[in-house]
Amino acid sequence: MSMTLVSGSGHGVAMPPGWRLVRFDTVDSTNEQARRLAVGGAEHGTVVVADVQTGGLGRRGRQWISPLGNLHCSIVVRPRRPVSEIAQLSLVTAVAVAEALGDVAPGLPFRCKWPNDILCRGQKLCGILLESDVNGVVVIGIGVDVNSAPREGMLYPTTSLQAEGGTAGVDAVLAAVCLRLSVWVERWTVDGMASVRDAWLNLAGGVGELVAVRVSDERTITGTLVGLDADGALLLADGREGQTHRIVVGDVLFERPRT
Ligand code: BTN
Repeated sequence: MSMTLVSGSGHGVAMPPGWRLVRFDTVDSTNEQARRLAVGGAEHGTVVVADVQTGGLGRRGRQWISPLGNLHCSIVVRPRRPVSEIAQLSLVTAVAVAEALGDVAPGLPFRCKWPNDILCRGQKLCGILLESDVNGVVVIGIGVDVNSAPREGMLYPTTSLQAEGGTAGVDAVLAAVCLRLSVWVERWTVDGMASVRDAWLNLAGGVGELVAVRVSDERTITGTLVGLDADGALLLADGREGQTHRIVVGDVLFERPRT
């Protein structure tokens, strides 16, 4: 594993004030590497980026295919909010990444899909994996398919920034993501979930539409998307049962492509 430490605006990747970049050619997983650094005392705003991951981690134990040309990064966050609110950082990150992609590829229709995927024209091009430890230190892992998207054996349709017509490279996406994330984490720290929730709903669309959410391997709930509650849980109205489901864990299954 080879490593170069870059800080400030080194190597042309501008970091937000107080943030720093640790760059690797190859790691097992940037989330794992960031966690190791956090255990060793890495500060809030430490960004780990790797050209290639040999053991990229997806949500729910899935693999994240991580070839050269795509963005694989993880950020150490030491939240200044109650531990009970930490899961909200998923939506904070989704909003930040969707906005960052809009910055580097203006005009493309990026959308958030609950809890934390980013789609373009109904196809996934970014996944987010949030992990926290008992001390409340959080690692936010972000994978953006910049150059290529995995095709084989995916649970969902995928695309890449390049396939959608975007011309930004990995470093430009990384800089934009870090900038937007630093701003949104600060906003959430000061104001809580309310502003994040509105931004996420604007970026997600789909309120009033029928969606299916897989809450476990055995159970899928279908209902009309009502929105998010104050904590960021998904609210689905179930017409048949006449009740509203509050969903905190699950995967929204793909509906028809939306622009
Ligand atoms: C998902 O399943 O949608 C989440 C994928 C998260 C992938 C990113 S790539 C950078 C970071 N390191 C990892 O091992 N996973 C996350």
